[in-house]
Amino acid sequence: MKNPHQDIPATLARALQEARRVVVFTGAGVSAESGIATFRDALTGLWSRFDAQALATPEAFRSHPDIVWGWYEWRRAQVLRAEPNAAHRAISQLARHVPGLTVVTQNVDDLHERAGSTGVAHLHGSLHAPRCSACEAPQIFADGIPSEPEEGRRIAPPACTRCGSAVRPGVVWFGESLPGDAWNAAIHAAEHCDLLLSIGTSALVYPAAELPQRALAAGAMVAQINPAATPLDARAHHNLRGAAAEIMPGLLASAGFEPPQTP
Ligand code: OAD
Ligand code: ZN
Repeated sequence: MKNPHQDIPATLARALQEARRVVVFTGAGVSAESGIATFRDALTGLWSRFDAQALATPEAFRSHPDIVWGWYEWRRAQVLRAEPNAAHRAISQLARHVPGLTVVTQNVDDLHERAGSTGVAHLHGSLHAPRCSACEAPQIFADGIPSEPEEGRRIAPPACTRCGSAVRPGVVWFGESLPGDAWNAAIHAAEHCDLLLSIGTSALVYPAAELPQRALAAGAMVAQINPAATPLDARAHHNLRGAAAEIMPGLLASAGFEPPQTP
């Protein structure tokens, strides 16, 4: 069996070992090995089957609420059936070894939390936080797994328990601003960390993609974990080519941190 962390550069291993404050910044790729589709991966990405620009917008919800709600319920059903993978578990385990760990995610799933991470900053909202499209009242999903919606099935959104208007997904749509608290926490963490790990993101969507740049400008080391190249490659100190669920346990081991228990 290949030494799991032989491919981790010694400077990165040492930086992780000595870091006081670490930011883990994740995208859809960290949930890929839990079976959840990413956005832009050509064959498996959500966008290869849907035009997300046509679905993930306030206008789309106003004109076709049942199509948009049905799409998000299909995605929520995927998440509820999924399990956190070794990358989520390693990120949760990292919090036991690093004095200050901040997890910032672009993902709308709750796999970081289900792996034990706390205080996760969700820059693009959450599938599990529906709210009223009019009075903004938070809504609770009555059911567990939505009634098994298959891809593309229309589902009328429920009515707000307070004002009766249509309930919308608690995610950030194109053209909407990021939740202020999450964004401010993410910026502060990126500008005050020793090390930022960018994991499973194409680094294309702003302002989220600004975070590694802010960390670099503040003098932090930036390492990227991704099987493919991204625009961040040119500036990151380390580009670890591979799947997050494979690399993350080895990264912890390279710093002398015990890897997460496999369930
Ligand atoms: P993308 O689909 O754009 O990128 C996923 C990245 O994960 C790609 O760079 C893949 O190479 C990489 N990847 C795939 N499998 C991986 C694995 N097993 N381990 C590590 N990396 C892997 O998803 P995001 O970068 O998250 O925004 O997209 C950012 C935002 O664009 C999303 O949050 C969403 C979308 O518009 C909103 O919905 C507002
Ligand atoms: Zn309402």
